[in-house]
Parts: sequence; C-alpha cells; structure tokens
Amino acid sequence: MQNKVLILDFGSQYTQLIARRVRELNMYSEILPYYKIPENLDDFKAVILSGSPFSVRAEDAPHPDLSKIKGHKPLLAVCYGAQYLAHFNGGKVAPSDIREYGRANLNTILDGTGIFAGIKEGTQVWMSHSDTIAELPTNGVRLASTNDVANAAYRIEGEDTYAIQFHPEVYHTTDGKKLLENFLVHIAGVKQDWTPAAFVDTTVSGLKEKLGNDKVVLGLSGGVDSTVAAILLNKAIGENLYCIFVNNGLLRKNEFESVLDQYKDMGLNVKGVDASERFLEALKGISDPEGKRKAIGRSFIEVFDAEAHLVENVDWLAQGTIYPDVIESVSVTGGPSATIKSHHNVGGLPDFMKLKVVEPLRMIFKDEVRRVGAEMGIDANLLGRHPFPGPGLGIRILGDVTAEKVRILQEVDAIFIDGLKKWDLYDKVWQAGAMLLPVNSVGVMGDERTYEKVVALRAVESTDGMTADWVNLPYEFLQETSNNIINRVKGVNRVVYDISSKPPATIEWE
Ligand code: XMP
Repeated sequence: MQNKVLILDFGSQYTQLIARRVRELNMYSEILPYYKIPENLDDFKAVILSGSPFSVRAEDAPHPDLSKIKGHKPLLAVCYGAQYLAHFNGGKVAPSDIREYGRANLNTILDGTGIFAGIKEGTQVWMSHSDTIAELPTNGVRLASTNDVANAAYRIEGEDTYAIQFHPEVYHTTDGKKLLENFLVHIAGVKQDWTPAAFVDTTVSGLKEKLGNDKVVLGLSGGVDSTVAAILLNKAIGENLYCIFVNNGLLRKNEFESVLDQYKDMGLNVKGVDASERFLEALKGISDPEGKRKAIGRSFIEVFDAEAHLVENVDWLAQGTIYPDVIESVSVTGGPSATIKSHHNVGGLPDFMKLKVVEPLRMIFKDEVRRVGAEMGIDANLLGRHPFPGPGLGIRILGDVTAEKVRILQEVDAIFIDGLKKWDLYDKVWQAGAMLLPVNSVGVMGDERTYEKVVALRAVESTDGMTADWVNLPYEFLQETSNNIINRVKGVNRVVYDISSKPPATIEWE
C-alpha cells in the first residue's frame, strides 16, 4: 500500500490523536517511535512529527534521523517537531517569556495558500509549549503568527516541509482538520481511500491468503472487538473459524443465552460453554481483588484451552486486539521505551497451546472497529454496548463471590441498565454497572427491621477508560431506580451512587 502516512512519535500525549484525525480523513496512518524509522519508506506518502514533553535544548532530547525524510517526503512538523527542525537546521529555540498553554489565535497569516488554504486569519489554535522558535531555520519562511508567538508556522523554501507550533490534532484548533487535509491531500497527494468498506475488503482478502484452509479458534466475549474480529474471520474462512463463548457465571443477567443466540443469528460457528460452576469453585473463599482476577484468568485459560483442543488440527488463535494496545509509545519518564503494551482478550496465551496468533483489528482504533462492524451489518445495539470487564461481576462483588451474591447483583444490574435504556440515557453514558458492597446496613420494611446488603451504582463518561467522570444522572431516574432495586431485589435495602472521578478512583471498584 503506497499511500500511508507515517507519524513519528516523540512522546506527546496527543500522538494518537494525530493518527485518529488522519484516519478520519480516510487515510491510513501508522505511529512509530522516532528511533524506529523504517529503512524503506516507499509506502509512506507523507510524514508527521509529533509534539513532545522534551525541550529540544535538553541533553536527552529525542534526535530522529530525518536524512531520508526532510527534503525527500512531504513533512509536517508539529510543536516539538517544528522546534526540532528549527534548532538543528540553523535556527534558534529559546525559553519563551510567556508560556503558551491553551487557546490562541493566528492573527496573522502571511500566506493563505498551502497548509493555510481556506483558513482565515484569527482562527483559534491550541498551544502547549514553553520554548519558542526565536529564529527560523535556514531557508525558513514565516507563514503565521499569534500575538505572542511570531513563528507560529513556517515552511522551508524549496521543500515540502511545513512546521507549526500549535496542535492541529486537538479539537480546540478550529481549523486543524482542514490544515491536515491541506497538507496531506493537496500538498502530499495522499489518497482518501481508507474507508470501513476498503478495510473489510483488504482485511478479508489478507486473512484468506494468510490462513488458507487453516483452522482458527477465537474466544468471544460478547464485546464489540471480539465480535467484529469474528465476523471478519467468518467472511474469510467461514466454518474453519471455531468460536468459543465461555460462560464464567459472572456475566450480566441472561447475557450468556441472549448473546449466544445473537451470534448464531450472525452465522458464526460458535460453541457456548457453561463453566459457571468451575469459576465459582475457583473463586471460593477468595476476597483479595488480585486473587480473584488471577483465579478467573486461570480458569478461563483452562476452559478455553480444553475447548480449543477439541478442535482438531487447529493452528491459529484469533484475538480482538486493537491499535491502542499495540502502539509502541515513547515513554516520557524513562526515555525511549521498547515496552509494548500487550493485551490478550483471552487472558494471556498459554505457552502449551502453541498456536500462531492472528489479530485482524490490530491496526484500527475503537471507533473504527465500530464503523467496520456497522459496515458489515452488525446490530447497532451490539456495537453500542458499554464496555464490560473480562472478570465480569467477579470484580463488582466486593469480598468473596458466591452464587447468591451473583444472583443479587445480576438483578440489581439488570434494573439499572434497563432503566438507563428506558430513560434514553444508555447511549449517553460510556459505561454503567452496579457493585455489591461487603457491608450490611439496617433498614425498615413495613414494620420489620432489615439488615441487608448495600449496592453502589456507577455511571461514567469517558473516551477510552483511561480517565472518567461520574455522570450527573437525573435525580428522578436515580429515585425510580433505587425504589425498583429495593422493592424487587431480595437482600438489598440500600442504594448509593458513586460520585468519584478517575483518577483518583478507578471505574471498577476492584
Ligand atoms: P478501571 O477500573 O481500571 O477500568 O478504571 C477501566 C476500564 O477497563 C475495564 N476493565 C477490564 N476489562 N479485563 C477487561 O477486559 C479486565 O480485567 C478489566 N478490568 C477493568 C473496566 O470495565 C473499564 O471499562
């Protein structure tokens, strides 16, 4: 594919956003650490340098080898990138008198063509820097200024090299997308052919070629990623895909049966394995959160492995890993880091399974997974489902887990989630669920004293689960939900609402 955009990461918190903005323009982008520039750059039509928490003046500042890029490929340097190009090419970067964080306006645009075509003077941009470009590099031509930053944008005469101090990838830069489009489409000539339909076509044919007549096992979780991965594989290899959906007994109420039915309707070759008792047995008497996670993870691998072995001559394990899990980011604390976050939907691949791994979604973002799912006709309800943790209700029951506690929490959770749907709040919330607390409290029902369980409801807004805030649900909704729970779920006499943000709290309580 000779139409890719390369994004070189210098550790900016916004690097992934650059990739997403490029993808939104229907172009394929890849993020690589600045020290891993590929030998062969033929496939890349344009290069973007990210920002960075480093100062170019610092001794440990990242130094990319741009010898095959600058002057050879269309290049857009953002923030640190812009300062880097200036500082090491005959210009000067100095600490600025005024630190610029947040909104600013490009009050002067000297050249309204090129990257600024169609962008008006005064447009709002997002700044985040403490150094400033005091002198432009050799052959630098100033393109735009804010009131405080004279060299807010420049280009290099005779090259397709552009540099901007502000962040076009951030939503607050009003014309950021336009600027990226100007650079990528009009200057670099990147084709806008990266669409969900194109992704489905190339992925399915790639999978066909890679897998041939091989057999593949895949653990379905009921979530979006594993489902979309399964449908793509199903299109490529049909009956040779063996899906396994394990009931760990910690799913939502009726989830196992209803999701299994849905999968069958989608034409998947899926086997439901009810291992509830085994998980409960493994969890018996364990109260420590990590201990519970480990017991659940271990049981999952045992069950999955046993099932996978029933499929004769299987070669591959498919996983729903997505791009944010595989991006090798530049660590901002310990210098360049080679650590790749690895995420296994099946809880880690046991060595003894000796399977090759296939990950059809490993190059796309979560929102793209949804778009690809919609493109393939997956039900909107399934695609819009809230995230649900692998260990399920096991980490929402504080303390030890018993069948009775699971039953209570399933009932509470179902009332809460059904209520959110009924009140048209479900899609406005990123994730919601209930926690069963390990305390009893005194209540009164009729004339009788009760001494029963407390449940906490949690609803958060978030974009990726890394940070989250609690949702201001209407009091009337909370009132109705609390009444329904206490009146209908035996064993619960008190409902509280969790108003903690993440950080410092986490979304799950364990
Ligand atoms: P925390 O509690 O860390 O959760 O704020 C962030 C997001 O991750 C989900 N989560 C998990 N998902 N396996 C998963 O597949 C897990 O072990 C796990 N633990 C937390 C959580 O539901 C939230 O969306």
